[in-house]
Amino acid sequence: MSTPAEQIHRSIAARTPLICAVTEGDERIETLMQDLAGRAFSKPVPFYRWTLSDGMTQGGKPVEDAPRDAELALAWAAGRSEVAFYLFHDLHHRILSDIGIVRRLKDVYQRFRPTYSCLVFSSPTLHLPAELTTITLVVDMGLPGPDELDALFARTASPNKQLAPSLASLPADVKQQILAAAMGLSYPEAERAFRRSLVGKNTIDASVPRTIFEEKQQFIKKSGIMEFVEAGIRLEDIGGMKMLKDWLVKRQTLFSEEAREFGLSLPKGVLMTGISGCGKSLFVKAIASFWNLPLLRLDMSKIYGGSFGSPEEAFLKAAHTAEAVTPCVLWIDEIEAGISVQGFKAEGGAASRVLGSFLTWMQEKKGFVFVAATANAIDLLPAEVLRKGRFDEIFFVSLPTKEERKQIFRIHMSTRKNNPDDFDLNLLAHGTKGFSGAEIEQAIVSAMFEAFSEKRPLQQRDIMIALDRTVPLSVTMQEQIKKIEHWAYNRAARASEKEQE
Ligand SMILES: Nc1ncnc2c1ncn2[C@@H]1O[C@H](COP(=O)(O)OP(=O)(O)OP(=O)(O)O)[C@@H](O)[C@H]1O
Ligand SMILES: [Mg+2]
Repeated sequence: MSTPAEQIHRSIAARTPLICAVTEGDERIETLMQDLAGRAFSKPVPFYRWTLSDGMTQGGKPVEDAPRDAELALAWAAGRSEVAFYLFHDLHHRILSDIGIVRRLKDVYQRFRPTYSCLVFSSPTLHLPAELTTITLVVDMGLPGPDELDALFARTASPNKQLAPSLASLPADVKQQILAAAMGLSYPEAERAFRRSLVGKNTIDASVPRTIFEEKQQFIKKSGIMEFVEAGIRLEDIGGMKMLKDWLVKRQTLFSEEAREFGLSLPKGVLMTGISGCGKSLFVKAIASFWNLPLLRLDMSKIYGGSFGSPEEAFLKAAHTAEAVTPCVLWIDEIEAGISVQGFKAEGGAASRVLGSFLTWMQEKKGFVFVAATANAIDLLPAEVLRKGRFDEIFFVSLPTKEERKQIFRIHMSTRKNNPDDFDLNLLAHGTKGFSGAEIEQAIVSAMFEAFSEKRPLQQRDIMIALDRTVPLSVTMQEQIKKIEHWAYNRAARASEKEQE
């Protein structure tokens, strides 16, 4: 893919003089055009900028004979014979509703075609009237790449003279970290993050990329479609799921040079399905902590909310954000909410377009974004998602076995300051066939409230009573669970070893 600067340069050479630059923030396209005006030809050409508030300016100074009004300013540009580059901001609303502006742009196109002049108008979105689509080159500036970020960082740091020595001798690894931390931010966001990271500094040290990364977390949070999740779950915090743990442990030295040399490729992702409350979410968190990677959670149902554009735009926005944080784990919770077979009917074409985007993206994603998807109703997922090769593995997380229940009791007693050896775990595990991990945890919690209210330590009896009061999901949802288990029987790997009771 060529960079926006290359695309614009080529378009000018090919005498396609009308260009729409899709970009957030004005400064980026300005820098680009200014730079291009200086180097596109053997001699620099004049560069004019028009905004609603400043009118026409050149090098920051008003151009006296240019009219302020947008339509007249376009006419003025079209009438000039000197080769020049023009950048118009603030036209995008009027382009859609004002035939006068459209007319003038068509005139500019006609007049500039035999010359090497060009006119770029900026727009935050890609919406053009039909008359303009055929004669306008659309350049989606996308997110800034490493070179632009590098230049932006230098520009942000340079007004502070104290930073000059460390900027000049910036170690390669710190620079790398700074660029990695800023990847995925839009131009104005990156600029703000850079500025914040340098406040009160007189050297550029390792805290700078850290601050930039924290800023990025904030931006992602504010964007609303994804969130950073604090993982912090160790494998010891999970009872059972031996097969899943083994799978993970085998991939411990994922990023090592040795693994690369051995010819191992990086895993793409896992899909976890199974019964509610049996630890799917828990395990996703454990994956991220195990690899020491940031965990980003995408709520599939949000992409249909409409706040982020069309569903497939919203999905791709999230996917690209995840790529920008690479390496990371992308947790797609309840993936069936976004791309279920039923959704195809309910959402019309949108759900199948999201599915298409998802599958293509899984194939082509850049960097290491490990997808950990969870699904409750996996039978709703279309076959393409489940086909071998999409995910490295599909795991079925079932109700815990007796041995696993024992471990789960142990874990949740210990984390709540009880000594598991004071309890008959065998008996408890025996009596909780059909209970999920979440239900066991809940029983311990309510038993502790009971004990606390009577001002005494937790006893076996309290737990037994709490368990007695619980009707496990496996009873109320017997039919569904049978169905899920039946589905998974031949199609998914079990997360834990088979019950031997
Ligand atoms: N195997 C387990 N070991 C330890 N704790 C568990 C286990 N399974 C479940 N729990 C406890 O139950 C809680 C709920 O589990 P979790 O949210 O991971 O279930 P889930 O499979 O994602 O359920 P849902 O389908 O409802 O999202 C966990 O936070 C954990 O405290
Ligand atoms: Mg969950």
